[in-house]
Amino acid sequence: MSKVIFITGASSGIGKAAAILFAQRGWNVAATMRHPEKETELTQYPAIKLYTLDVTQPDSVAQAVEQALQDWPRIDVLVNNAGYGLFGPMETVSEEKIMDQFQTNVFGTMRTIKALTPHFRQAGGGTIINITSIGGLVGLPFNSIYHATKFGVDGLSESLNYELRPFNIRVKIVAPGGVATDFATRSLKQTMEGASVYDESIQQVFAAFSKRGGNYSTGEQIAGVIYEAATDDSDRLRYVAGEDAQNLYAQWKEMSNEDFFAMINQGYGLGQ
Ligand SMILES: NC(=O)c1ccc[n+]([C@@H]2O[C@H](COP(=O)([O-])OP(=O)(O)OC[C@H]3O[C@@H](n4cnc5c(N)ncnc54)[C@H](OP(=O)(O)O)[C@@H]3O)[C@@H](O)[C@H]2O)c1
Repeated sequence: MSKVIFITGASSGIGKAAAILFAQRGWNVAATMRHPEKETELTQYPAIKLYTLDVTQPDSVAQAVEQALQDWPRIDVLVNNAGYGLFGPMETVSEEKIMDQFQTNVFGTMRTIKALTPHFRQAGGGTIINITSIGGLVGLPFNSIYHATKFGVDGLSESLNYELRPFNIRVKIVAPGGVATDFATRSLKQTMEGASVYDESIQQVFAAFSKRGGNYSTGEQIAGVIYEAATDDSDRLRYVAGEDAQNLYAQWKEMSNEDFFAMINQGYGLGQ
């Protein structure tokens, strides 16, 4: 029987590209999203079934997992992809925006893992792939909350990997750099309210981020890395995805902290 992959946030970007790629390669796909009634593209694929899932709602996670397991006897891979960005200074960010960001990017990931781990264990194995970011390995300016969520999921994944290995459950991290999706538009929230003291540096940093668009990966390329993580049968934990992310991570590993920070300050217009 074809393998089954369960993906969160499959309505657009990386999640949708992954749903299509796995379906094209003979997998069955549980494509979960907040509003499946609006989806018109994934419904064209017989191997893809849609489920309602909002990762911030525990009942919604439980129901989607239960329904998918009624439709298929076994789920092989979970991809935690649902997420959004938060850009701006830490000083002025509201408590509500911090909580919302963690609810989706971190607690949502924990919920699906908790919902599917018993199944993976009973089925004799499985793979959990968490989509983090290069911002889950390297900190960049004015992304403190977003990076806190992605560093959080990176740490969660590394620890969990030891814990679940005896049950033949692998945990993997796909950490993309810039990807041309809805992420930088409708999925990017800001924390600018009352942040005028940071105006000048924010403008510099925002301009630097905007210029990076030229070497963004496509959602399809990142889906290819997710496919590799799901199928390479290795114990590899981290898949840094995209040339920009790989270059930055290599610099971060090779350079001294002082040199790296000076390079980032300069590159983002923050002075030496
Ligand atoms: N694009 C990048 O540059 C980039 C770089 C590094 C990492 N990432 C990560 O890649 C992942 C996917 O982002 P993307 O680039 O594909 O952006 P995207 O096209 O904006 O997709 C984000 C997806 O997350 C879903 N989502 C948001 N909140 C949700 C919730 N509460 N419950 C369920 N789904 C929810 C969105 O659903 P709706 O359609 O309902 O809003 C959408 O399907 C994210 O985790 C992001 O942090 C992206």
